[in-house]
Amino acid sequence: MKGIILAGGLGTRFRPLSHTGPKQLVPIANKPVLYYVIEDLVEAGIKEIGIVVGYTEEKVNAIKDAVGDGSRWNCKVAYIQQDAPRGLAHAVGICRDFIGGEAFIVYLGDNILREGIVPYASEFYKSDADAYLLVAEVEEPNKYGIAVLSEAGELIDVEEKPQAPRSNLAIIGVYMFKPCIFEMIDLVQPSWRGELEITDAIRKLLRSGKYTVLARQITGWWDDTGTVEAVLNANNLILSDLKGESLGEIEEDVRIIGQVKIGEGTKILKGSVVKGPSIIGDNCLIGPDSYIGGYTSIGHNVTVKGGEIESSIIYNNVTIRYKGRIVDSIIGDYSEILNGQQNPKGE
Ligand code: TTP
Repeated sequence: MKGIILAGGLGTRFRPLSHTGPKQLVPIANKPVLYYVIEDLVEAGIKEIGIVVGYTEEKVNAIKDAVGDGSRWNCKVAYIQQDAPRGLAHAVGICRDFIGGEAFIVYLGDNILREGIVPYASEFYKSDADAYLLVAEVEEPNKYGIAVLSEAGELIDVEEKPQAPRSNLAIIGVYMFKPCIFEMIDLVQPSWRGELEITDAIRKLLRSGKYTVLARQITGWWDDTGTVEAVLNANNLILSDLKGESLGEIEEDVRIIGQVKIGEGTKILKGSVVKGPSIIGDNCLIGPDSYIGGYTSIGHNVTVKGGEIESSIIYNNVTIRYKGRIVDSIIGDYSEILNGQQNPKGE
């Protein structure tokens, strides 16, 4: 099977950070979301991946620089450019030549699944299903494409962001298809929001009566990292499984509590407290007298002097010399937060 990763889109819900970089490269525990996706596909035995990228040159180049030709993961990566964010069905549709006649897996480039996809990919591969969906219970089904299942667990219907949802099972960002999905995509008309919805293509498969569509409910957590809250949540969940280790230098009178991972060339200076689960990248300078609270990811080349940071993501090359408290925040590359500046108050 081949894999397709959708990494175009606008990322409006992740502005302003998505103005300057693709949201698929947001670091979760110091690793871009997209890397989790690639690793998951490779673990499922996929050797050829097509990444759908958007039309903003800066963002396309950032993704190409981060992923390259895929050799780092022992797979082959091709890039397929989408002229505008015309919807998931459109993004899949433009991969027809890349896919050829094979079954394939589509993975949204901003999704993370704790337990991965291996058992599902293997079930789909061995089955005669034409499409295979993963679903998960959500609190606000009206915000998702949802799946309606019979009591016997058979998929009866799918609906995109329904006003009166008939189920609380969201279709999550991993779809497995046989090439017959392309014929259905050809028939899909733009939805009220002007996009070609993949849910509509799946509905056509179901309604045709000719095809088999399976749905499986996942048991581990899943996060779609589309908003700041979802990104921070994914960071918390990934850090929960972190194993502490230090490759850096820790001065006397520093307290390290719980699972904390510290990178090469990083120094934690006296009077500081670092509470896990937290990760600090390479070549950082933390302290003196800084407090890094739990569920914090600090990238590479970051300086934190004094102050408190908790439950936040700090990208690379950031300088923080601020006596206050930074909580539930995402701080982009090359930011400077200094005393005396008018800073927003994180509560
Ligand atoms: P979404 O999160 O649904 O859309 P978006 O990225 O445009 O974000 P927002 O709703 O905040 O504006 O997209 C899910 C994934 O699919 C994401 O990785 C981007 C990708 N995608 C495409 O590649 N092409 C598209 O046309 C769309 C809509 C999304």
